[in-house]
Amino acid sequence: MTDGTAQLDGRDIVLRRVAIDEMIGLRQAVIIAGTDRDTPYFDGDRDEATRHFGAFDGEACVGCLSLMSRAFEGEPSYQLRGMAVDPRWQGRGLGAALLRYCEQAMADEFDALNCLWCNARTHAAGFYTRHGWQQVGDGFDIPGVGPHVRMVRRLR
Ligand SMILES: CC(C)(COP(=O)(O)OP(=O)(O)OC[C@H]1O[C@@H](n2cnc3c(N)ncnc32)[C@H](O)[C@@H]1OP(=O)(O)O)[C@@H](O)C(=O)NCCC(=O)NCCS
Repeated sequence: MTDGTAQLDGRDIVLRRVAIDEMIGLRQAVIIAGTDRDTPYFDGDRDEATRHFGAFDGEACVGCLSLMSRAFEGEPSYQLRGMAVDPRWQGRGLGAALLRYCEQAMADEFDALNCLWCNARTHAAGFYTRHGWQQVGDGFDIPGVGPHVRMVRRLR
């Protein structure tokens, strides 16, 4: 997968696979701070199958997400976790560009991958819906983090 670019507000944003250490600071600042979690790391962050993606404005990581190999309803799948956009970049199309880029990257890399899924924060569910994700089942609470809904994205 080649790096992607998105022209946003006159800046060239680079979209690419990243190592966990390149994006953990952004995840901590946007996703973990203010929750009960005591570490920004998730189970599986360093698994070989895990894929991390980032968006860069110059050297600064301004968007990130991670995908972990986790079955969905018995089907091989990847779970999207820790999607975050720097607050200064939110609402400017960066999350949309990063999501599209990683969906394409995963479909290209894994021929047999039919879907991605995530447990989305309820307040962010509309973001995923706009990009072709569908809610599955009822909402639920993750203690210490808040209300969530499960969402799935068919890739093929
Ligand atoms: C949710 C988040 C990743 C979206 O990224 P973003 O860069 O702000 O989103 P974009 O600017 O690319 O928005 C793309 C579209 O989704 C919409 N959108 C963005 N956030 C939304 C939300 N919370 N609810 C509904 N729609 C939303 C935008 O209005 C836009 O619609 P348009 O294409 O019709 O203009 C980002 O706001 C964020 O990091 N929020 C805090 C952390 C968080 O909640 N992460 C998700 C955890 S599940």
